[in-house]
Amino acid sequence: MKVKDMTFKEGQEFKIRVKPKDDCTCFSINIGHDSDNLALHFNPRFDYGGDSNTLVFNSLSGGCWGDEHRDGNFPFSRGEESKFYINFNSEQFYIKLPDGSMTNFPNRLGDVKYKYFDVSGDARIIGIKIK
Ligand code: GAL
Repeated sequence: MKVKDMTFKEGQEFKIRVKPKDDCTCFSINIGHDSDNLALHFNPRFDYGGDSNTLVFNSLSGGCWGDEHRDGNFPFSRGEESKFYINFNSEQFYIKLPDGSMTNFPNRLGDVKYKYFDVSGDARIIGIKIK
């Protein structure tokens, strides 16, 4: 699902509530300029591509993936609504996970304003809010 007319700026807080489906393999939250240029690809993998219960982070530039980051802390459950928060500056994205822990990923595109947002995979968006 793509969200139109959204602008996410440095210093703002992006709150996302999602519900992974009962048979979710993975889902992703993508933030960037367009589908080929993503500053943040946040990809919780329940069981996908040889990964189980792993958070995968990456960026996509001109359609090419960068180096993946992985995090073994996995506070998501199938069928359960979860809420997390993202904010960023020109250097980093900071993600507050549903268990309250923080993780981060470099802002490799280096911009302070992004207008493209989508959620894909096996999860339903319950709500999003930027403030
Ligand atoms: C690929 C996967 C993409 C994306 C990417 C991240 O293996 O097909 O959807 O998650 O990894 O590096």
